[in-house]
Amino acid sequence: MTPALSVLLCLGLCLCKRTRTQAADRLPRPSLRAENGSLVPHGGAVTLRCRGSWEAEEWRLEKRGGSGWSQIKAVRGAGNEGEFSFLYVISHDAGTYRCLYRHSSYGLSELSDSLELVVTDLSAPPSLAAEPSSEVASGMNVTLQCWSEGWHDWFALCKDGEEISRGRTGRHGWGRQADFFFPAVTPTHIGTYRCFGFHNSSPSLWSSPSAPLLLWVSGLSSLPAGFLVDVSACPILTSYRKPLLIPSLSPSPAVRDSLLREMMYLCPCGAPEGRR
Ligand SMILES: *[C@@H]1O[C@H](CO)[C@@H](O)[C@H](O)[C@H]1NC(C)=O
Ligand SMILES: *[C@@H]1O[C@H](CO)[C@@H](O)[C@H](O)[C@H]1NC(C)=O
Repeated sequence: MTPALSVLLCLGLCLCKRTRTQAADRLPRPSLRAENGSLVPHGGAVTLRCRGSWEAEEWRLEKRGGSGWSQIKAVRGAGNEGEFSFLYVISHDAGTYRCLYRHSSYGLSELSDSLELVVTDLSAPPSLAAEPSSEVASGMNVTLQCWSEGWHDWFALCKDGEEISRGRTGRHGWGRQADFFFPAVTPTHIGTYRCFGFHNSSPSLWSSPSAPLLLWVSGLSSLPAGFLVDVSACPILTSYRKPLLIPSLSPSPAVRDSLLREMMYLCPCGAPEGRR
């Protein structure tokens, strides 16, 4: 090979390699999300959305099973998102998903992060209590105790609809209990908590939720800037389907404080024990 040819060849190879790398760099990595949260009651509907490139030709959804990942759905491209609808979710749909897409010129994209779809309402709900009380002074410790009569060996604790912790259960009386300890509470702990039970062998199949518990932190001089309160469980406040955002710029800390307290009294389901 003449030096000139090898230089040309190398130039060609290098250029080609370079172009391919730039192409891959240009394909956005897809992200997968569940439209209305990844906790879905049995019989409910959920839409998984895979977001990637506007030039995607096909979107693919994969699920992890006993023998690895397999493709379970594919939809044609439209927009920069692929949509996978589940109209009536059953326990078989629970599990871990990921997505990818096929680009017209660059082939397959990278894989998204995985998403765990949890199906709830598959066994009786646990109960949730706060020790020493669901109203505690700022800086004090509180323990949320989730208890069930069932065979659940794990509990998941959710705050305002988001899972925040999981705990292994221990025998307690004729049932099983897990304690979630929160030292030195601050206003960020204010919120509506629920717990769910599940079994070690099926971590995506959960019980019905416990009744909601509103944790209130008293003795605050001010509330944190714009925080969320989940009032979806309040039958009286039916106009609030979503967590209510208390804006940081509402009139004064005292007004916000009284608004929250009022909501607590309005919500028999969320009120602390002994106030019903
Ligand atoms: C899911 O959320 C969308 C809005 O983001 C809403 O229009 C739709 O009704 C919700 N679906 C269910 C099943 O709750
Ligand atoms: C709160 O818990 C901590 C341990 O994390 C303990 O040292 C402290 O004494 C507790 N405070 C109160 C008031 O019980």
